[in-house]
Amino acid sequence: MSGQLSSAIAAGERVFELLDAVEEIPDPTAGKVPTKCDGAVEFKHVQFGYLPGKQLMTDVNIHVEPGQKVAIVGPTGAGKTTLINLLMRFYEINGGEIWVDGINSKEMTRHELRKHFGMVLQDTWLFEGTIRDNLKYSTERDVTDEEIEAAAKSVCADVFIHTMPGGYDMMLSKGAENISQGQRQLLTIARAIVANPEIMILDEATSNVDAHTEKVIQEAMATLMKGRTSFVIAHRLSTIRDSNAILYMENGDIKEVGNHDSLMKKAGKYAELYNSQFA
Ligand SMILES: Nc1ncnc2c1ncn2[C@@H]1O[C@H](COP(=O)(O)OP(=O)(O)O)[C@@H](O)[C@H]1O
Ligand SMILES: [Mg+2]
Repeated sequence: MSGQLSSAIAAGERVFELLDAVEEIPDPTAGKVPTKCDGAVEFKHVQFGYLPGKQLMTDVNIHVEPGQKVAIVGPTGAGKTTLINLLMRFYEINGGEIWVDGINSKEMTRHELRKHFGMVLQDTWLFEGTIRDNLKYSTERDVTDEEIEAAAKSVCADVFIHTMPGGYDMMLSKGAENISQGQRQLLTIARAIVANPEIMILDEATSNVDAHTEKVIQEAMATLMKGRTSFVIAHRLSTIRDSNAILYMENGDIKEVGNHDSLMKKAGKYAELYNSQFA
């Protein structure tokens, strides 16, 4: 009985925490819809902290032109994931503005805002269902089988799909545990191609896969980024040398901005991190 009581108390505390949580700011009733969806993104003097009185970002400014590739690097806890959370409006900023496609993102509904983004993250989310259903999950459009297969082909995912029993109609188990980590990643990349958003967020995740699969995934990601604005949280610095901009973050703020060459010439934090990976 005493065990049951203490877990009931812990559960009760969580319920009260939820009841006490601050309400999400309501969406604007007449949300603005961008007329030019080219993937321009701008952070203007953004301030943010998860906890009241504890500011993490004090003044973040980023200007991203349509189609540019922006790499975000820095040690664990630097604020890389936070930057993405703010971009997707999973949290509200305390100051400043974030503009997407020429509109202050606060003036769009969250639904409208998130339609313009695609995400490929380390933890792949695939649901119990066929490969085909998983591939068309991210879009509201009607998608033909041809489109789905063309998307899979463009990122070399169809090779392994054809070897699976049932091909595109193969049933994935919960969490897609019946296919490998690398295959799961390829499916999420193919899914993003089907959805065709103008801005991509990628958390480079190529640990736990063999060298060949890693190369296939990297090429798939490159295909996905082509012609889109992309934000890449990079772990291997070798893959971001060609980025238009590299943001080096630490303690929540952007400490260095530039391309690979200019940051190496600067011989600062980024150069130190880069050299530590290739020394
Ligand atoms: N939900 C949260 N509530 C409170 N603090 C958080 C939360 N998420 C992250 N943090 C803190 O914010 C800082 C930045 O975290 P994060 O953006 O996840 O870093 P990174 O992705 O660069 O490793 C860290 O100090 C982390 O502990
Ligand atoms: Mg992170």
